[in-house]
Amino acid sequence: MESWYKEEYGFKITAVSVNGDGSARHCRNGHESGDTYSCEYGCPMPKNGEGGFCSKSMFKVFPLLEAVRAGGDLSNLLSGAEKHKCEFICPDGVVKFRLEAFLKKDFNPEPINESTRQKVTNFIAEYWHGTDMLIRGKIIDMTKVDGFVIFDDGTIIGLITYLVKGGVLEITSLDSLISNRGTGTMLLNIVINMAKQNGYKRIQLLTTNDNINAIRFYQKRGFELVGMNCGAIDREREKKPQIPLIGQNGIPLHHEIEFAMEL
Ligand SMILES: CC(C)(COP(=O)(O)OP(=O)(O)OC[C@H]1O[C@@H](n2cnc3c(N)ncnc32)[C@H](O)[C@@H]1OP(=O)(O)O)[C@@H](O)C(=O)NCCC(=O)NCCS
Repeated sequence: MESWYKEEYGFKITAVSVNGDGSARHCRNGHESGDTYSCEYGCPMPKNGEGGFCSKSMFKVFPLLEAVRAGGDLSNLLSGAEKHKCEFICPDGVVKFRLEAFLKKDFNPEPINESTRQKVTNFIAEYWHGTDMLIRGKIIDMTKVDGFVIFDDGTIIGLITYLVKGGVLEITSLDSLISNRGTGTMLLNIVINMAKQNGYKRIQLLTTNDNINAIRFYQKRGFELVGMNCGAIDREREKKPQIPLIGQNGIPLHHEIEFAMEL
């Protein structure tokens, strides 16, 4: 399959709520609040590799995507909507979704600063099960980490965070909401260049056994697989029960995989 047309917009769809108690049992497609999907021209794909977007709700999404692509304003179509952001209810009246559109342009990563910190913290809380992260046996307060962030109209669409100790830079998180457009690579390269300029000797990071996307991504960008910490996530889950048992791509989540780049 060859992607030859450069789409102008990327879309993120989030399940905001599911009737009543939020149980997936209310929805035939099994949507749960917090599920996120992204797409450009194709169908919305789950961010965690699990399940698919509801085919019936596509009837509602499709005209909204087309309105954005045609240069329209969603606030003309739905009350309470902004130009590129709206909420809509699935045809069964069960799941409320939020749709956000991003105009793809030459994004400009900026260092996290005081004025962006709160948005970064909210983003981390949403995507990383809270703002405390257990890394190599230590709890890291993710509300204080350094990093680079990419905004589109005030909404974060990419974030990389890191810590530096003894000339070693540890990447603590990397997220790109507009997949396969070079955003993740751009953020990673900024950190690699910054580490080289500062004379750091090594960049390292941990990912999980289910994250086959990240395992591919880092190896193709010069990182070596240097370690495997069997059962690390199971041990972490004892302290942080919100870590799911099943990770991305339906893979049971048990182990940490360590990557490093010597500079
Ligand atoms: C891993 C992750 C950061 C990658 O981000 P991304 O923005 O999709 O990354 P990129 O677009 O730079 O690269 C992804 C692919 O898109 C391709 N790509 C980049 N620009 C492209 C373009 N303009 N057109 C088509 N394809 C393109 C790249 O070739 C790359 O493929 P490859 O890895 O096989 O070489 C992202 O999937 C993510 O946020 N995952 C969830 C969080 C996570 O797992 N983080 C990492 C663990 S810490």
